[in-house]
Amino acid sequence: MAKDNNKKFDGLFEDSKILKPSAAFAKQANIGDRKIYEKAFKDPERFWAEQAKNLVWFKPWKKVLEWKEPFAEWFVGGKLNVSFNCLDRFIGTPTQNKAAIIWEGEPGDSQTLTYRQLYTEVCKCANVLKKLGVKKGDRVILYMPMIPELPIAMLACARIGAVHSVVFGGFSSEALRDRINDAEAKVVMTASGGFRRGSIIQLKKNVDAALEEAPSVKSVVVVNRAMDPTHVPLQAGRDFWWHRLMSEVNAKCEAEVMDSEDMLFTLYTSGTTGKPKGIVHTSAGYLLGVNLTTRWIFDLKESDIYWCSADIGWVTGHSYIVYGPLSNGATIVMYEGSPDFPEKDRFWRIIEKVGVTIFYTAPTAIRTFMKWGEQFPNQCDLTSLRLLGTVGEPINPEAWMWYYKNIGREKCPVVDTWWQTETGMILISPLPAITSLKPGSATHPFPGIKAKIVDESGKEVASGSSGYLVLTTPWPSMLRGIYGDMKRYKNQYWSKFPGFYFTGDGAKKDKDGYFWLLGRIDDVMNVSGHRISTMEVESALVDHPLVAESAVVGKNHEIKGQAISAFVTLKESVKKGNGHVELIEELKAHVTKKIGSLARPDDIFFTAELPKTRSGKIMRRLLRDIAEGRALGDTTTLADATVVAKLKDQYEEGE
Ligand code: WTA
Repeated sequence: MAKDNNKKFDGLFEDSKILKPSAAFAKQANIGDRKIYEKAFKDPERFWAEQAKNLVWFKPWKKVLEWKEPFAEWFVGGKLNVSFNCLDRFIGTPTQNKAAIIWEGEPGDSQTLTYRQLYTEVCKCANVLKKLGVKKGDRVILYMPMIPELPIAMLACARIGAVHSVVFGGFSSEALRDRINDAEAKVVMTASGGFRRGSIIQLKKNVDAALEEAPSVKSVVVVNRAMDPTHVPLQAGRDFWWHRLMSEVNAKCEAEVMDSEDMLFTLYTSGTTGKPKGIVHTSAGYLLGVNLTTRWIFDLKESDIYWCSADIGWVTGHSYIVYGPLSNGATIVMYEGSPDFPEKDRFWRIIEKVGVTIFYTAPTAIRTFMKWGEQFPNQCDLTSLRLLGTVGEPINPEAWMWYYKNIGREKCPVVDTWWQTETGMILISPLPAITSLKPGSATHPFPGIKAKIVDESGKEVASGSSGYLVLTTPWPSMLRGIYGDMKRYKNQYWSKFPGFYFTGDGAKKDKDGYFWLLGRIDDVMNVSGHRISTMEVESALVDHPLVAESAVVGKNHEIKGQAISAFVTLKESVKKGNGHVELIEELKAHVTKKIGSLARPDDIFFTAELPKTRSGKIMRRLLRDIAEGRALGDTTTLADATVVAKLKDQYEEGE
């Protein structure tokens, strides 16, 4: 067991400070009895079935789990509706008149929607979708800024059984087009624009470009935001203003009766190949997972004002802005823009203004706040906060302590939550009234979750050794597949270690049984908490007419976690040195065009050759050594070891 120690925090994980939950916090917590771990471990299905009773069902399930590895069905035969669970259950109760969404626009405008108002908007939007011919099972792409219309559209899809697929507004028109085509979406919902650091991101323009090669889309619904509407061309018969359509429908729309296993949404994420995967989530298991984890990990109550600063374009926003908190009847805060607009204290000003009690953000944001300095949070009243969370990448203990001290003022537990788009819900995290915290550790698997750290042969490693993080049993909110590609689902997640779900993450367990996440061990980078595959960026680079070959690696970066470093060989006809700034800029712009600015390489280095094994595989590991300035690792498998040695010298000279 974890023992309390007052040793000065020294940043080393084994000796990190241990923080016990305070008695005052434990007294009021939603879950304070550690026996729950044992109970859930012994009989996970029974545990999940008991918890599922907190959802509103139209018809009870017949069987908790049908498991034919790797295919799971949870709550077989059960009927419910996710939108009903987030809205209708509160209508006619006192909750209906409290704020569901407190929204802050970047320029300073704001809006509050009560549960009843949200319910009305969702019903109207559902009727709009119906009017556009959207039926149960049809896919709807949502490409929107962080405005209330986005959760409204998601809940409207859920209400009628349409499958939403949110595409992050930072993706380019080409990335959007590929996702629309993969989903064969019928409708796209977007906005004319959105604000970001004072400038306008023109989303509708990107939609227009994407639709030139996306024939499945019949209608586009456009929220009027951030632009002069007369400057937003609408294509007759295809494009409609959101407010017009909303004013033409009535506000009554019964929630569709959905099967537990009916699809709720797909969300595209990067894997180890160039093509993003549409991760499939279904209704009951997903909702149960996010509903329960929100209540236990964030200790969320109806009285809370909860703010998750993620963008809804990522899974964190789906699970912990929309479905988890709203199904618990809490008030959520949504902020449209950037943390440094108009000043670097914007987040703290929002917390002060609306009295946020729970705040959930990413380590990369925390490190940025650290760099900006304590003066910004210090000039705001943050006393309303009672719990903090982090997600997206490993948090270094220094950032954890800074967050704990300067934002939580040493009175808020910090929950470091590990999970993935595929897992749907948080799987490794403290329970704040039970778990003693170690800065930098996500601590323990959630009740009912079984995780192991194994070596290459699938054998559990000794404590203190690192290995692959795997999950050994199914869980309700697990992905049900990759949209349109079940074979890839099996290969990707269930083949490396038969019987186990392979996470792609490295991890270590310490002598107290605490989990420490070590980052991806595959070709997926984590740049400012955004998941990007090396192959995706490589494909974008070789798409440029002057590029012959490229190899991309994620190198350590103080703020972003990882930065994108690209090594490029040019075609014979073009010989350009690394001083060729223009071409470097052109290639960076090309990647931005193909994927989005989130994938723009930080540096591009031209080389005559890339280090390859005798079988022709590029050794990215060695390129990472070079980019991070380390001595080269094992080079014995290379076809020609002089290539990499020369490359390292050139790189260091900055030729
Ligand atoms: C990483 C985001 C360490 C991890 C919810 C995972 C983390 C990937 C943590 C999933 C954490 C997420 N500590 N690493 N607390 N949370 N990760 O799909 O590498 O965008 O595999 O889901 O982020 O990223 P995704």
